[in-house]
Amino acid sequence: MAATGTEKQGDESVKAFYVSTPIYYVNDAPHLGHAYTTVAGDVLTRWHRQRGEKVWYLTGTDEHGQKIMRTAEANGVTPQEWCDKLVEEAWKPLWEHLDIGHDDFIRTTEKRHTDRVQEFVQDLYDKGEIYKGGYEGPYCVGCEEYKLPGDLIEDEQGVKLCPIHKKPVEILKEENYFFKLSAYGPKLLEFYEANPDFIQPESARNEVVNFVKQGLQDLSISRSTFDWGIPIPWDDKHVIYVWVDALLNYATAVGYGADQAKFEATFPANVHLVGKDILRFHAVIWPAMLMAQGLPVPGKVAANGWLMVGGEKMSKSNLTGIKPQDLTSHFGVDAYRWYFLRAIAFGSDGSFSWEDFTARYTSELANDYGNLASRVAAMVGKYFDGALPEATAAGDAEQAIQDGLAKAVAESDRKIGEELDFQGGILAVFDFVKQVNGYITEQEPWKVAKDDSPEGRARLATILYTAAESLRAVAVLLNPVMPETSRKLWESLGAEAGLGALADQPLADAARWGQLPVGATVTKGAVLFPRLEEPKKDA
Ligand code: ME8
Ligand code: MG
Repeated sequence: MAATGTEKQGDESVKAFYVSTPIYYVNDAPHLGHAYTTVAGDVLTRWHRQRGEKVWYLTGTDEHGQKIMRTAEANGVTPQEWCDKLVEEAWKPLWEHLDIGHDDFIRTTEKRHTDRVQEFVQDLYDKGEIYKGGYEGPYCVGCEEYKLPGDLIEDEQGVKLCPIHKKPVEILKEENYFFKLSAYGPKLLEFYEANPDFIQPESARNEVVNFVKQGLQDLSISRSTFDWGIPIPWDDKHVIYVWVDALLNYATAVGYGADQAKFEATFPANVHLVGKDILRFHAVIWPAMLMAQGLPVPGKVAANGWLMVGGEKMSKSNLTGIKPQDLTSHFGVDAYRWYFLRAIAFGSDGSFSWEDFTARYTSELANDYGNLASRVAAMVGKYFDGALPEATAAGDAEQAIQDGLAKAVAESDRKIGEELDFQGGILAVFDFVKQVNGYITEQEPWKVAKDDSPEGRARLATILYTAAESLRAVAVLLNPVMPETSRKLWESLGAEAGLGALADQPLADAARWGQLPVGATVTKGAVLFPRLEEPKKDA
């Protein structure tokens, strides 16, 4: 669980800033793509926590449906056994390893979820929003979705394939229950129009609006050909369609139908983070389900782009062979959290490369940032016995640093906190790091140190205070992205004694100059970003 600097956390009169990840299928272990979305959510929620907001961060697992059932069968265990094993041995441990500070982890096989899902669906049925009908069409088990014939692609033999999974679709014919989704088209379009920021980025928004404009079909919400799911309460020969079951996690996990006070203080989500592959479910079906129930709809659905491999979306079947743990053991957890958000514009597709990661690690993390931190600590040690000196001779150069910091804080807060532009926000902070490096190069404190006069000493003290105080702010700004190295820097600056815990430092206050107390004990701590070992030959 994440540390929080606010007493608002348990206050039910305050609405939480509520962020979710998709709940992931547990047919296999998590890969880089899943970790990408989950790290983004962790950075976003830590950012808002440091704004002093009440925050709720939810992740979890999607455990029903044909895909999970078939995987369990192929492995000779029951679906529940399969899910329990994967959740405990693969999913939860990875989030812990990556320092993910979620407040809750929901599993769709939990009673707190299944009971409420049945109530929700029963309620829609009672309201006349669900009817019985027949359907025949191409179905992709990978997506757990009926496809429109126009969405399919063909292989060389003319076999119809799912455009995402590139696998043959199956023709399903069933007598099912249907949700009157088609009735919600106009209301959804009106909603998108009134809330232009509801879907992000712009390209995703356009895709959804065009899709809805073509006219929606009613949604089959039950299955009767297999039984790994939540039974339809009024007809137990059917189980609830896995996507209806799954989307409801965002409500059941925060008290829907069970804890009204918590529900009202949390729901709806401010941001649903999703990959582009599941945009329509979140931006079309989910709000329609909520509208049908008279519940409030979410603030934003933000679609991240795809991590690609060989020109294709990275998926279980075409992995690079590189697991998140292979990268963290080489680059460290913090660098891993930083890299994907730094290298790829959120919302755009991007490729991972070992070479690119290595180059950025070395130039931006180790050289620009890590060296700055260790040089400053070393000089305070050498010239002032590790006691932070007072800045009594500040001039234009120091003012420029203060101005640069103010800009970095305002820009990173707008970009990460408001626009989900993680790359832009991180760059704003690293531009400031570069500025401080430039300042030290120009001021040449090692030369000033040779001047023993009172003026010389005052100049040297001013330069080192300015650099250390800049690093104080950098630790605060980078804490949501790289909590472990920020903590190391905080320790090295001796900041805790005067300023308290790092996670409690409000972002709004980060640019206020002169917070690091004179006399603080500065120590040359562990190297923030050690030189990389040679990568393994087979990596
Ligand atoms: O769709 N690049 O689960 P899932 C970027 N259970 N992000 C990626 C990615 C890639 N190559 N691969 C996966 C499901 N992701 C449903 C969700 S929610 C009510 C139910 C991320 O295991 C991305 O966030 O297939 C994507 O949407 C999600 O993992 C899909 O995970
Ligand atoms: Mg998927």
